[in-house]
Amino acid sequence: MNVCFITSECVPYAKTGGLADVSGALPKALAELGCAVKVFMPLYDSIDTRLHNLVFSEDLYEIPVQIGNRSVVFNTWFGNLGDSGVKVHFIDCPLYYHRSSIYTSDGDENERYILLQHAAFKIMQRYNWSPDVLHCNDWQSGLVPAMAKNIYHWDELFRESVSVLTVHNIAYQGAFDPQDIYKTGLPSSMVAKGGPLEHNGAMSFMKGGIVYADAVTSVSPTYAKEIQQPQYGAGLDAILRTYHHKLTGILNGIDTDVWSPGQDTYIKPRYTVKTLNKKQRVKANLLKKFGLEYDEERPLFGIISRLTPQKGFELLQPILSHLLQTSNMQLVVLGSGEESSEQFFQLAKDLYPEQVAVFVGYNNELAHWIEAGADFFIMPSRFEPCGLNQMYSLAYGTLPIVRKTGGLADTVIDVYSDPENGNGLVFEDFTSYALLTTIQRALEIYSDSDALETIRLRGMNADFSWTRSAEKYVALYNRLKYA
Ligand code: ADP
Ligand code: GLC
Repeated sequence: MNVCFITSECVPYAKTGGLADVSGALPKALAELGCAVKVFMPLYDSIDTRLHNLVFSEDLYEIPVQIGNRSVVFNTWFGNLGDSGVKVHFIDCPLYYHRSSIYTSDGDENERYILLQHAAFKIMQRYNWSPDVLHCNDWQSGLVPAMAKNIYHWDELFRESVSVLTVHNIAYQGAFDPQDIYKTGLPSSMVAKGGPLEHNGAMSFMKGGIVYADAVTSVSPTYAKEIQQPQYGAGLDAILRTYHHKLTGILNGIDTDVWSPGQDTYIKPRYTVKTLNKKQRVKANLLKKFGLEYDEERPLFGIISRLTPQKGFELLQPILSHLLQTSNMQLVVLGSGEESSEQFFQLAKDLYPEQVAVFVGYNNELAHWIEAGADFFIMPSRFEPCGLNQMYSLAYGTLPIVRKTGGLADTVIDVYSDPENGNGLVFEDFTSYALLTTIQRALEIYSDSDALETIRLRGMNADFSWTRSAEKYVALYNRLKYA
């Protein structure tokens, strides 16, 4: 099965969030199941070709693409996903990809991803390689199914290809001026009122993907249901209800080569289910890094997040002082995003310097330390398509505290509601009170070390590896191809 996997970010090359983790791991898992996978992504300015040993392609260079009135050329570089044999094709076009960040709000943001999508087709044509599956991710490759059916359909390489759009986050839709349709090469009738790419008067890459893809997946079964409701559909719920027959949820996995306490290359010491007592030493080392005192009696809570309204940290604002004043808890925060949220955590650190430490920014190594060293991990998300951090937490014996939504609902079982199987703490209402009482329950659990250890081991023993999810994608590919 030949799979063309198109993505805007991919570990270890470029990452703003979980999409990169998925893109770095799922293609490898598909390859292990016998698929021949080629990954396509932009060569952003931030990707150091020398550091990653990328190779300039002597065959795939100066390839022209017409984007509206602009004639653009791109070169191609090759990289790998570890030693999996999966080749990553980097689309090199400084005009579009040498910017100060991966995503921008520049006027040509749509062109940046129109190029990525055409480039994938052009490279496949140069290879004379016929993809059985065109696997797209989020709006940045949402037009690929429409392009396959309307622009590249003359080429027999793509005649039998099926397309899958994975929705990692419906809140980001790639909505642009409908006049820009000419840049895509697709017919302008597609953005006429009620047309397949028109949404609320804009040209929507995400809607185009939903309409034209042969299957739409989202990254957890619960989120697949939620996005069909107005509360979670970000305006596309009606479209998703219309196409519900082709929508399924497939839960993400985690890359256990990278995220496991027994193999983690950042933390010290490493530990496993058999040496769980060493987790305390990781906690002590983590606290030292953050300049906080270590005391075995004090529970440590961790946060690692993009600080956006999605993540629900506004719920902590009215209750954090109370929690810090009435308990001996400590909190370490790693995140960046909205200024008001960053300021809130900074203020908490200034007011409670012995209990709170904050690192504003992005730091992969610290993320590993916090997952490993914390006792509890807080994710009060307003919505969460899948969420990877709660699965990392489970793997590291760190109890997740989550709101019951999306992938959080599908992976974390509340220990109070289900004492036999519980692996964390779950609350339902999006209120500060619900979060407060749940954190207070966590404090109680911390004082019962036997109970704590039992719950930790449940999470560590659970299987969240990619194999199971990848099997589901392969089954879907087969259904689409041969049904
Ligand atoms: P989302 O993709 O919505 O941000 P996920 O839980 O799926 O949420 O994935 C987030 C990923 O990004 C995780 O791998 C997490 O460790 C990482 N991450 C988020 N913020 C930071 C940060 N400030 N520093 C390092 N890693 C971060
Ligand atoms: C998105 C979602 C997150 C999910 C990730 C990977 O960024 O916000 O919940 O885990 O994609 O699918």
